[in-house]
Amino acid sequence: MSKIRARISGIHAWVPPYILNNKELESMVETSDEWIVSRTGIHERHILKGEGLGTSDMGAEAVRGLLEKTGTKPEEIDLLICATVTPDMMFPATANIISDKAGIKNAFSYDVNAACSGLLFSLVTASKFIETGSCKKVVVVGSDKMSSITDYTNRETCVLFGDAAGAILLEPTTEEVGIMDSILQTDGSGRVHLHMKAGGSIKPSSHETVDAKEHFIYQEGQPVFKFAVTKMADIAAEIMERNNLSSKDISYLVPHQANLRIIEATARRMGVGKEQVMINIGRYGNTTSATIPLCLWEWENKLKKGDNIILAAFGGGFTWGSIWVKWSY
Ligand code: UT7
Repeated sequence: MSKIRARISGIHAWVPPYILNNKELESMVETSDEWIVSRTGIHERHILKGEGLGTSDMGAEAVRGLLEKTGTKPEEIDLLICATVTPDMMFPATANIISDKAGIKNAFSYDVNAACSGLLFSLVTASKFIETGSCKKVVVVGSDKMSSITDYTNRETCVLFGDAAGAILLEPTTEEVGIMDSILQTDGSGRVHLHMKAGGSIKPSSHETVDAKEHFIYQEGQPVFKFAVTKMADIAAEIMERNNLSSKDISYLVPHQANLRIIEATARRMGVGKEQVMINIGRYGNTTSATIPLCLWEWENKLKKGDNIILAAFGGGFTWGSIWVKWSY
């Protein structure tokens, strides 16, 4: 019997309309367009505005678009996984709320918290349900309203992040396409460099935690940068080596978009040229779990069946990983 693989059969994304550009940030904190562009590659990012709107609203937009585009009925979905670090609430899972808003009634759903690697961790998890035959149609959503945990008086973090959602449909195939191989890693000791201090069980929310601005992203940029550069580049190279893929075999590297310099270092390590790398950080900033589907969505028309694509990410946790995908349509 031939092996069942999980293939990506559709991709969609959604970004909120409001654009926060570097010029506007210059009026909010002591920064400059020149500093932001030269250190990160970011020119603008989209921000979700509006009372009562959260991560699930962006996720549901992406999922509704995905179902419509692929001609899939909501009731056909068996499982929905949402990668996020900005859930609507502590509980229930944002995945459940997205399912409800998108009319998905016959599925089970849950969240995966792996920060910027969340999309990769979720894709691998979802692919196992397909490979074992337990599920036929699985939706993976990466959705993050980073503006909800960003301190817009802190120039070290507020220039980096944006809001967005992306959704991927996975289905079984016996062809030699789909998710071919993956490597995922975590190192919890990295939490000291990138975390949110309060609002969890160690330090529940209180007046003091709000006054101390402990409900925002805390990031020590340089140590995170050092880890990200080596880990993301090494893991992307490792998945190529262990599958005997050379840079000529690769159609595209799809890197997590945290910093243009990290993306360029990963491409150099893999030996791939600029034209082989999906880069849109300039227009969206770091949208955490949504960066990879946002890239695939924008490049979808250029992709061909059989293209070898390497997805790579690094993020809070620390978490990092890479996936080799053969495009299936
Ligand atoms: O996606 C999840 C994982 N996260 C990442 O991968 C992020 C990794 N880290 C980075 O991308 C970079 O470290 C940053 C973009 C966050 C910062 O860039 P950097 O080149 O590492 O800058 P730095 O933190 O070393 O700061 C250099 C200087 C400092 O001033 P002094 O001490 O040299 O006077 C900062 O205060 O730049 C200053 N600075 C700024 N200046 C203008 C920091 N942020 C800003 C700003 N505008 N927005």
